[in-house]
Amino acid sequence: MRWSETRDESKAAFHRKKVTVVGAGHVGATAAFLAAQRELANIVLMDVIEGVPQGKALDMHEASPIQGYNAIVHGTQDYADTVDSDLVIITAGIARKPGMSRDDLLSTNVKIVSEVTRNIVKYSPDCVILVVTNPLDAMVYTALKVSGFPKQRVIGMAGVLDSARMRAFIADEVDVSIEDVNAFVLGGHGDTMVPLPRYSTVAGIPITEMLSRERVDAICERTANGGAEIVGLLKTGSAFYAPGAAVVEMAEAILKDKKRILPCAAYLEGEYGVDGYYLGVPCKLGGGGVEAVIELDLSKDEAASLHHSMDSVMELVRTVDAFGHF
Ligand code: LAC
Repeated sequence: MRWSETRDESKAAFHRKKVTVVGAGHVGATAAFLAAQRELANIVLMDVIEGVPQGKALDMHEASPIQGYNAIVHGTQDYADTVDSDLVIITAGIARKPGMSRDDLLSTNVKIVSEVTRNIVKYSPDCVILVVTNPLDAMVYTALKVSGFPKQRVIGMAGVLDSARMRAFIADEVDVSIEDVNAFVLGGHGDTMVPLPRYSTVAGIPITEMLSRERVDAICERTANGGAEIVGLLKTGSAFYAPGAAVVEMAEAILKDKKRILPCAAYLEGEYGVDGYYLGVPCKLGGGGVEAVIELDLSKDEAASLHHSMDSVMELVRTVDAFGHF
């Protein structure tokens, strides 16, 4: 039998998009695996710990014949391998350990995210950056400042995760398919986030028309504590399946230019009365990153909650600015 290759290597790069995931921990590896399974892109999994991204990438490759995907996952310590990525997902950073202050976590992760961003920009000057590292609203601000990218191309993942949690809780409460449930959560990614029941629906019907005030409040509260609920159960770490899935939903919207309407941490310049900070708001997410910010009409209470959430984001960002890394 004879096999003649006819592939034009000069065009090979156009056959599949390229995504880099920085940080091969639970969230990064889960996102890489889900993205590979959907064949969204070839994936570079990057981590400073020698062997870990290589080991996880090889493991994913060995899963591919069973799961039936052809995307390539490449593990590396070398930023040169990330060259010409279409999308870079930053999950690198440390989690808070006992005895550490919030500022300790913040200062360490600002350093990590700054260094990662500098390297990313060097090799992929045209990429979209999706930041996942916590504290999210301050880390995505760091990536924007360090990269010098336009605001459209530096986005934070939080609202998709938070609203997925809310959707799951609504579906449980109403006892219907998650496919028919939508939810919106705005604000910072923390306990001041703002679930919006008026804009959260079952087949288009606002949940405020289906559930008692008490049940709606309980769903909102559980949503705002969603991350902490998982930490409380796991004890030694935080969530990664839902965060990984949320990252991939956003990645798909960008890589396929889907123009999805999703809550994203976007850099605001006047929208919602906020100027020069990131905040979770509904966005049109497509090939150019954040292509539009949608300004919902908020009730007085909702607007007050959003501004309360903004205050805590501003406090974090002031601390980040005071570190003077950029
Ligand atoms: C959460 C953390 C990871 O919400 O931000 O689960």
